[in-house]
Amino acid sequence: MPGDLFPETLAHPGLTILPGFAGEAAPALMAAVREIAAHAPFRRMKTPGGKEMSAAMTNCGAVGWVSDAKGYRYQASDPYTGLPWPMMPVIFRDLAQRAAQAGGFAGFAPDVALINRYEPGAKMSLHQDVDEQDFSAPIVSVSLGLPAMFLWGGAKRTDKAARIALASGDVLVWGGPARRHFHGIAPVKAGTHPLTGAARVNLTFRLAM
Ligand code: SIN
Ligand code: FE2
Repeated sequence: MPGDLFPETLAHPGLTILPGFAGEAAPALMAAVREIAAHAPFRRMKTPGGKEMSAAMTNCGAVGWVSDAKGYRYQASDPYTGLPWPMMPVIFRDLAQRAAQAGGFAGFAPDVALINRYEPGAKMSLHQDVDEQDFSAPIVSVSLGLPAMFLWGGAKRTDKAARIALASGDVLVWGGPARRHFHGIAPVKAGTHPLTGAARVNLTFRLAM
């Protein structure tokens, strides 16, 4: 019975939880993150309102998500270096595609991976991912390193958010009617993890353009 295999899928329509899906790939994914960050360093972007975000961020792919006084957007060059974003590694693309398929979205071909790094205390407030052009593609989210509490809300900001514990290697896929659901990350608790040290790293794969 599918309910036995993926109970959370039934509890949270539109969201598929794939526990440990990236566990085996995690060390190679982190090595790739370090390589990307050597070219496009993690930085704390400012919201359009001028507030520094608590999670540090970088990107790889044809475009990258950026935020500054002019707003949120995707752009082909890294404003920090002036260079194109590093290419998306094959292992990223492959993992994202396989996870999307497991979540019911065969043929997912992301053009960007946002890479967030949360040090203890960092969080991401409830928000929607709405800067992409095509909402028929899902979001694939990969957790590495320190655990975190994912907040899964609804279509409205005021909808009560479920709390879903995420460990290193866990993957989430959401799409369809849930593509624009509010979501966030509660403040990351202090700790260290062999893969990342005192940090949680998250990859979100998207089709932006
Ligand atoms: C995001 O919503 O972009 C990131 C979520 C996460 O860090 O798990
Ligand atoms: Fe998001």
